[in-house]
Amino acid sequence: MADDPAGSVESVSGPVSVTVDLAERSYDICIGDGLLASVGERIADLFPGARAVIVSDETVNGLHGQVLRDSLGRSGVINHTVLVPPGERSKNFAMLDRVVDGVLATGLERQDVLIALGGGVVGDLAGFAAGIVRRGMGFVQVPTSLLAQVDSSVGGKTGINSPRGKNLVGLFNQPSLVVADTSVLDTLSTREMRAGYAEIVKYGLIGRLDFFEWLQANHRAVFAGGSARAHAVRVSCEAKAAVVKADELEGGQRALLNLGHTFGHALEASVAYDAKRLVHGEGVAIGMVMAHEFSHRLGHCSQEEASRVAEHLSEVGLPTKMSDIPGPSFEIDTLMSAIAQDKKVERGALTFILTKGLGRSFIAKDVAVDDVRAYLEDCLAS
Ligand SMILES: NC(=O)c1ccc[n+]([C@@H]2O[C@H](COP(=O)([O-])OP(=O)(O)OC[C@H]3O[C@@H](n4cnc5c(N)ncnc54)[C@H](O)[C@@H]3O)[C@@H](O)[C@H]2O)c1
Ligand SMILES: [Zn+2]
Repeated sequence: MADDPAGSVESVSGPVSVTVDLAERSYDICIGDGLLASVGERIADLFPGARAVIVSDETVNGLHGQVLRDSLGRSGVINHTVLVPPGERSKNFAMLDRVVDGVLATGLERQDVLIALGGGVVGDLAGFAAGIVRRGMGFVQVPTSLLAQVDSSVGGKTGINSPRGKNLVGLFNQPSLVVADTSVLDTLSTREMRAGYAEIVKYGLIGRLDFFEWLQANHRAVFAGGSARAHAVRVSCEAKAAVVKADELEGGQRALLNLGHTFGHALEASVAYDAKRLVHGEGVAIGMVMAHEFSHRLGHCSQEEASRVAEHLSEVGLPTKMSDIPGPSFEIDTLMSAIAQDKKVERGALTFILTKGLGRSFIAKDVAVDDVRAYLEDCLAS
């Protein structure tokens, strides 16, 4: 194992737990290989006598649903399963209706528990359903994609997309427990692994240069699995838990988690969320490189540091520029209108996450729309 400035890798050879400290809504994130088989026992401890409904997508259920059902069965937790098709398109009102109806049909009550087994799509959709069925029932996240383990399952944001935009309808609904079994990631596609990895890099770039450097040295081990992967998930969850503790409802500092997301969301919107062209984490990878280059252009960050971000993301096989996205090239007006929709524009200025260098991101509330347009025009021209 290479140098480990971001904490001890050895200490995560067994399961570890990270606490999200939110007073009476605090909860643990349990991280480690093989934890799926322990979910039944954990739920029986946390919700004595409760029944459960698993909400999952067809792909994840086929691969991992039975291990979870067996675990619940061993602990005497009566359980049902409700499935949705895989993919972003399931985050809509029709699928919310299907999940809510499926849960109500089981006859479960408020004190019973909904388990979201899947990636961020299932977590967001099922978490929203758990928050509104019977005005809120028990909720446990069992994230199965890397993105969900390091980002979406932690922090309580749940919801669906509207035809008018992404994540526009939803609730803050913190889970009571998150169980991240790092070995279920063995069945995830390389492309989805890379997409989740972009969000891990994000935590280094926001505020942990030591972690970014650890990732530069250890990325192969993170992709291979075992203790380095669990370590990367743990550091990411600790980083997210700290931000969520400080600013649960995103009044201020939580916005730092949007590093790379303004450009990334504009790219996703411009390809009409076509996953064949771009998935979320890929948009974030390109967006983080752009955020560093844009910061350099505004005089905040060196070109060398911006280049280091691009080099690392490219080394793991992530796209780093708009021209890496297959299909037709982008239109400036489409990108600008997506940015205007994503972020509040006040008197010609945007709130943007910029950086003073690796690990030194900050919230800039006065970025001129004209500067963003000029930067994007130059990107499209090159
Ligand atoms: N709530 C939040 O704070 C938050 C944060 C970031 C992202 N998100 C949301 O998360 C969603 C993206 O999440 P995602 O990338 O996990 O997408 P996803 O849930 O669509 O999962 C990606 C694909 O991987 C498959 N998959 C998941 N786990 C697998 C496994 N172990 N083995 C094989 N295949 C597996 C899924 O079936 C799906 O096809 C977006 O909707 C985004 O808005 C939410
Ligand atoms: Zn993201």
